[in-house]
Amino acid sequence: MSDKWNYGDAYKRYPLTNEPYEFPDGSIVKVHDIFNPLPDFMKKADLMFVDPPWNLSNLNTFYTKADKIDEHKDSFEAFYKRLFECISEIKPHTCYVEIGKEHLADFIVDMRKQYKYVTFYNSSYYHDKYKICYIVRGSKNFRKPRLDYMDEEHIIEWICANEDYECIGDLCIGRGLVAVNAYKNNKRFVGTELNHKRLSVLVEKIKKMESEQKE
Ligand SMILES: C[S@@+](CC[C@H](N)C(=O)[O-])C[C@H]1O[C@@H](n2cnc3c(N)ncnc32)[C@H](O)[C@@H]1O
Repeated sequence: MSDKWNYGDAYKRYPLTNEPYEFPDGSIVKVHDIFNPLPDFMKKADLMFVDPPWNLSNLNTFYTKADKIDEHKDSFEAFYKRLFECISEIKPHTCYVEIGKEHLADFIVDMRKQYKYVTFYNSSYYHDKYKICYIVRGSKNFRKPRLDYMDEEHIIEWICANEDYECIGDLCIGRGLVAVNAYKNNKRFVGTELNHKRLSVLVEKIKKMESEQKE
C-alpha cells in the first residue's frame, strides 16, 4: 500500500483497536464497518452529519485504502440502504448527508422516509467552487437554515456552532471534520470509521486540541 494512504503515520502514534475509543469529554469513536451491527454509543447522537462515499467506485476505493480489497462491494444501493438503516436506528432529530449528483435523488427519497421536513443544499468541497456536491437535510421540526452555495467545510462549521444538539454523530467520520468542529464548540461527538489509519488522524487532532486547551 502506498505511503500516501498512511495519512502521515498518525496510526503509529495513536494506534486503535476494534474497541471504542473514548475521549475525556465522553466523545466516542470506533473502527467499524457500517455493515456490521450499529454500536450502541452511536445512539447518543441527537444530530448527525455524514459524508459517505458517493458511488460504488468511490466506496471500493475506500475499502482499498483501508487494505480491505477482499471486502469490495458490488452494489452501492446496499451501502446507502444500510447507511439510512443506521440513521433510523439512531433517530437524530436532524440529519445532514452529503452526496454527489448521481445519487442525490435516491438520498432525498430515503431521507423522506424518515423525516417530515427534507431539503437539500448546493455545496462544494475542498473550497473549490467547481467541485460540486449536495447536502441533504432531514428534520423532525421545521427549520430551513440558509446554507446554499457554502463549501461543505463551512456548512459543517455552521452546523456544529448553530444547530441545537448535545452530541453529533457521523457514521463515516474519517479524519474528523465533524469531530473537530464539535470539539471547538464544546460539544460531544460519536463516530464510526472503516479505516483505522484515517480515524487515528482524528484522534491525534483532538488530542492536540485537548493539550492546547490545558496550556
Ligand atoms: C468522504 S470520506 C469522509 C470524510 C470525513 N468527512 C473527514 O472529515 O475525513 C468517507 C469516509 O467513509 C469511510 N467509509 C467508507 N466505507 C465505510 C463503511 N462501510 N463503514 C464506515 N466507514 C466507511 C471512508 O473510509 C472515509 O473515511
